[in-house]
Amino acid sequence: MQLSIKDHHGLVAEALVARVRDAIQSKPNAVIGVATGRTPMEAYRLLALERESLDLSRARFVMLDEYLGLASTSPDSFQSVLRRQVLKPLGLRDEQLIVMASDTKDVLTETLRFERKLAKCGGVDLQILGVGRNGHIGFNEPGSRFDSLTRRVSLTYMTRSDNAPTLIQESTVPVEAMTQGIATILRARSIVVIATGEAKAPIIARALNEPASADLPISALRAHAACELIVDRDAVLERGHAQRRELREE
Ligand code: F6R
Repeated sequence: MQLSIKDHHGLVAEALVARVRDAIQSKPNAVIGVATGRTPMEAYRLLALERESLDLSRARFVMLDEYLGLASTSPDSFQSVLRRQVLKPLGLRDEQLIVMASDTKDVLTETLRFERKLAKCGGVDLQILGVGRNGHIGFNEPGSRFDSLTRRVSLTYMTRSDNAPTLIQESTVPVEAMTQGIATILRARSIVVIATGEAKAPIIARALNEPASADLPISALRAHAACELIVDRDAVLERGHAQRRELREE
């Protein structure tokens, strides 16, 4: 996993946009895996500013995960978030997003359909990931097997409380979700993980230093040949270290 440290969140977003631009320019029908969450939203906004100069008409975008038990049309489903924050600003057609349906009645069939759809479109060229404070990637919470495929999962209390402030309409974060599995994610030809802010510093320190294990899902990415971790300075300085440094500098 190659580490890049940028001065601030805006530069992390710019670096991510550059990776997406390169992917599309070298392969106009590239398949881009898109995370939701707060971290990539600035990059999606910056990407939309480039829509006139970037031909995205043949690109496809693939969901990484989705809540279960919400109407697909709920503004809080990840499908709605991606339509609002990525598809619409980029002027893309609905069918350019490969979805998992949050309101499916048959989760197993939906996850198998999603895996088949991914295989049919030739697999993901560039997967964008964030990371949870507990090390989750997608919704692969600690304990997820590295050979897991797209499946139904239960969300941890930490994930549900971290995501609660992002809700627009729903009163609680669903307790279950679907997620690309860790093995599904690792099949992407390249991966960019972004993390910003001091709340992510402890998990980034663990991701860089702890041995790979199922307790630390992000550590699975170390086995990937083309995975870049782009962070801002706050995400690599533990609070205590930052304060000690400030004291020294006074
Ligand atoms: C979102 C996702 C999650 C988030 C992670 C970080 O589709 O899969 O793994 O990337 O929870 O979320 P933020 O960016 O809000 O800190």
